[in-house]
Amino acid sequence: MIDSQLSERSPALTDAQLQADELVVDLPGPRGPVRVVDGVSFDVPAGTTVGLIGESGSGKTMTALAVIGLLPEGAETGGELRWQGEDLLRVSDERRRRVRGHEISMIFQDPLAALNPSLTIGRQVGEILRRDGRSRADVRSTVIDLLDRVGVPEPAQRMNNYPHEFSGGLRQRAMIALALAGSPSLLLADEPTTALDVTVQARILRLLRSIQQEEGLAMLLVSHDLRVIAHVADQVVVMYAGRVAERGPAAEVLRRAAHPYTRALVASVPAVRTRTALADPLPGAPATPANRPSGCAFHPRCPRAQDRCRTEVPLTREVAPGRWSACHFAEEVLDV
Ligand SMILES: Nc1ncnc2c1ncn2[C@@H]1O[C@H](COP(=O)(O)OP(=O)(O)OP(=O)(O)O)[C@@H](O)[C@H]1O
Ligand code: SF4
Ligand SMILES: [Mg+2]
Repeated sequence: MIDSQLSERSPALTDAQLQADELVVDLPGPRGPVRVVDGVSFDVPAGTTVGLIGESGSGKTMTALAVIGLLPEGAETGGELRWQGEDLLRVSDERRRRVRGHEISMIFQDPLAALNPSLTIGRQVGEILRRDGRSRADVRSTVIDLLDRVGVPEPAQRMNNYPHEFSGGLRQRAMIALALAGSPSLLLADEPTTALDVTVQARILRLLRSIQQEEGLAMLLVSHDLRVIAHVADQVVVMYAGRVAERGPAAEVLRRAAHPYTRALVASVPAVRTRTALADPLPGAPATPANRPSGCAFHPRCPRAQDRCRTEVPLTREVAPGRWSACHFAEEVLDV
């Protein structure tokens, strides 16, 4: 079913590419606006998975919500979010509603919160198809195909269940079916497996990765778990206190990071650490956007910090082909 939907798309859609250029998000706070995303730039090329990683509060969710246009009330944005030549921050509300679901879809961390408890799974997965004016029979068979595709057993029966009648893993599968129903070109997945137990997590990640590859979708996968990114992402964007610390091909960044923060993240996870067997927990607490340290926000925790780091904000620059880092000493970090 999804194959046939794909072939009906205009060629432009399958070449989809998202480009965030100096994206800024300000949220209202008790003492004035707080810049929670501060000049973030990255690309999501068609057919690739980009992992967005960073500690809690680094601005990952706000970046994804800016793309789908669901930022909290009162949020102000700056910079550009180019989607197939259009700046999503400046399109009409009508165009934005059309993009949501049909071109860009989002899978949330907690499907129970994202799904409506009083509507059947089938009704919710079919919602966007009904809005598109498809016939009842067409909607029903498409919903069954979608649920089958994401691994919901006996989909013709299970589509009549309510969300509470599904297990956590099945609910997340239903959420993925819902996200795919409008044939999007870009999937945003915000911690899609964090609420699930470990074996179910692995299955859902494999499912997402296979759908992304088979359909040639672009995917922005938000996670605080480096192991998830290592398994699934082609490119990685590392965020710290609302800014990009480093970005580049996932395998290269995780093997030989060009930013001390990424090095510390990698060292804190035993499974992706390559140099010694033990993990070193990250020292100190993450900087918060409301209390961002001067200069390089990572300086209070950085083992390499020099005087310059306390006063001068490091610019993100290309330090090797395809490798970007916002550290004054990135070349030296890369050489270690
Ligand atoms: N509704 C809100 N109003 C004001 N500030 C908010 C709101 N939601 C989040 N924030 C703040 O915005 C910053 C970025 O939050 P965001 O949710 O994007 O972080 P995150 O990287 O997704 O973290 P996590 O890993 O915990 O999900 C945080 O400092 C957070 O406290
Ligand atoms: S700029 Fe300085 S403080 Fe920041 S990561 Fe690089 S060495 Fe550390
Ligand atoms: Mg988040």
